[in-house]
Amino acid sequence: MNIHAPLAAVPLDENASDFAADVTQALSQHPKKLSPKYFYDAAGSELFEQITRLPEYYPTRTELEILRARGSDIRAIIPKGAALVEFGAGATTKVRLLLNECEFGAYVPVDISGDFLHAQAAELRADFPALNVYPVTADFTAAFALPDAVQAMPKVGFFPGSTLGNFEPHEACAFLRSARAILGPGALMLIGIDLEKDEKLLHAAYNDAAGITGQFNKNVLVRINRELGGDFDLSAFTHRAIYNRERHRIEMHLIARKPQTVHLLGRSFTFRAGESLHTESSYKYSLERFAALARGSGWTPKASWTDSDKQFSVHALVAGE
Ligand code: AVI
Repeated sequence: MNIHAPLAAVPLDENASDFAADVTQALSQHPKKLSPKYFYDAAGSELFEQITRLPEYYPTRTELEILRARGSDIRAIIPKGAALVEFGAGATTKVRLLLNECEFGAYVPVDISGDFLHAQAAELRADFPALNVYPVTADFTAAFALPDAVQAMPKVGFFPGSTLGNFEPHEACAFLRSARAILGPGALMLIGIDLEKDEKLLHAAYNDAAGITGQFNKNVLVRINRELGGDFDLSAFTHRAIYNRERHRIEMHLIARKPQTVHLLGRSFTFRAGESLHTESSYKYSLERFAALARGSGWTPKASWTDSDKQFSVHALVAGE
């Protein structure tokens, strides 16, 4: 998984990078809150791949199951010769299902991490020699231009994994609006969205018995120590994931076990015992609430598919004029 770019190592200067600025701001505010995009350095991306294989973490295997089961329904609505534009580059398992099922004219993976993107593109070119692959190195949450070679093709966006769930609702709306502008009127979007469900299942998925999610959560502290010269004591924080029912989201926190002061970039930040650093929200939708979000962001729901236990959903949306 590499939805968000690993940042290059930065000098110890508060203004030297977005990471430094965001971390110092996150630790200065009450409650303390940092963007989940900073999970995904090389170690964090690897830990996320491990999470996707955990028995408790249902989203990845359930989405794959839906894509496999609904392959012919998906093929029926994809125009032949369309350009498939994937927002974010990660494990290629899901996109391979689409490439095997449908006749695409081109594949355009978009990710801020150029190295990762080109490695992934090379892998796909080897396995699909007839496919034109045009990687675009860009932040896919902002405007970017599609390659000239695909301009005349019908467009199909692909945003799997419920990555949209890690966006705050206003960010999710902004992303969908931006994707509509990039893909153009009439484009199709296939998007994976995690569904609300029994809280026990959600709790287990984000508090796995093997402790991998806890390591993934704490990896952001490892990163702060390495890249910003921080002195976080990892053993002084506990991973906690709770479901916030009112806001329909799993929240991941790092909870200080005792009062402490952390230093980085020449500054000190204090934690009270029990104080949280909120590191991630993972929003869960009902089919209706997601359809309303899509409509409010310029897309018309065309079809949606779930697994038989209604744990996860895949939606086909059409871009409005
Ligand atoms: C990437 N994203 C959709 C995952 C999720 O489920 O929100 C990230 C994750 N966080 C903890 N486990 C997995």
